[in-house]
Amino acid sequence: MDRILVTGGLGFIGSHTVVELQNEGYEVVIIDNLSNSSLDVLEGITSITGKKPFFEKLDLKDKEHVEGFFKKHEDIKGIIHFAASKAVGESVQEPLLYYENNISTLVYILKELKKMSSSNFIFSSSCTVYGQADELPITENAPIKPAESPYGNTKQIGEEIIKDTCKIAPNIKAIALRYFNPVGSHESAKIGELPIGVPQNLVPFITQTAIGIREQLSVFGNDYPTPDGTCIRDYIHVVDLAKAHVIALKRLLENKHKSNYETFNLGTGKGSSVLEVIHSFEKVSGEKLNYKIVGRREGDVISAYADTKKANDELGWKSELTLDDAMRSAWKWEQVVRGK
Ligand code: WQD
Repeated sequence: MDRILVTGGLGFIGSHTVVELQNEGYEVVIIDNLSNSSLDVLEGITSITGKKPFFEKLDLKDKEHVEGFFKKHEDIKGIIHFAASKAVGESVQEPLLYYENNISTLVYILKELKKMSSSNFIFSSSCTVYGQADELPITENAPIKPAESPYGNTKQIGEEIIKDTCKIAPNIKAIALRYFNPVGSHESAKIGELPIGVPQNLVPFITQTAIGIREQLSVFGNDYPTPDGTCIRDYIHVVDLAKAHVIALKRLLENKHKSNYETFNLGTGKGSSVLEVIHSFEKVSGEKLNYKIVGRREGDVISAYADTKKANDELGWKSELTLDDAMRSAWKWEQVVRGK
């Protein structure tokens, strides 16, 4: 079966995608610099699928190492590129770290793909590129707004780099997947989200509060023009997201693409408010969450949720798991990780 390279394959979405690739019979090669993950994740993947992916520790900023890697692995048929820094707040404090880590590494990979007779490339993008969309739900044709953070800018620039490269390199077929908010964990609780330090994102902060690591969740504002005053997002289960990557890769491997650069929104199509997420968690966990309403967080958009028609019709993919499923799995994972 085809060998697929997954960069950042020990990360949150990467590891779940490796599991789904192996479930489909692909042979997986993971490269990861372990800056935001650990080799325990490799054990977790192996214990789920019974197959240990090939792993090489590699920092994609090391151009020579990247060139040497692709020389050694000329039989790679597809690349799913997750490796990147992804903390919005950190990117504001460390813009050069983000531009170096997220952009130069993409350029080095694309230079290698250009040398291949044919390559199939899946790029990890984000709904962040839309900023606060004027129309909801958000379609792939929604205007790209000026990025609110260097992180979001690296996703916008990354898509432009791929688009420009595909224009002059017909041998490269690429799909950018624009994720909404990935949440939850694999049902086995053997892999999941492992934020380092204080979680920036809502769901890990909820589960860490419930398990007692965090004192209290701060809800960033309840004075937004939404039904309950809190922000709305499209929370998509990470397993549904992972399956979409395999489907998108197959589209390219089987030459079912309509052009050699395509974009797809990956969401549930349903918006949920912060309070609805909290209530879902309390329902499925039986825990009463300790939270308080505080001021708004700089840069938050009011509401964002996906128009999923293109992914449904073109990819034949639709999310199947619910917000309750995501909260249940996130809670189970938190309890396992903390040995509770
Ligand atoms: C969700 C909602 C917060 C934490 C970011 C990136 C996006 C993607 C997903 C990478 C917001 C509220 C949060 C907390 C809160 N990442 N919140 N208290 O900002 O929608 O998206 O993560 O691709 O690119 O931008 O996700 O989970 O941080 O926030 O009230 O302690 O939860 O205000 O309304 P966000 P989030």
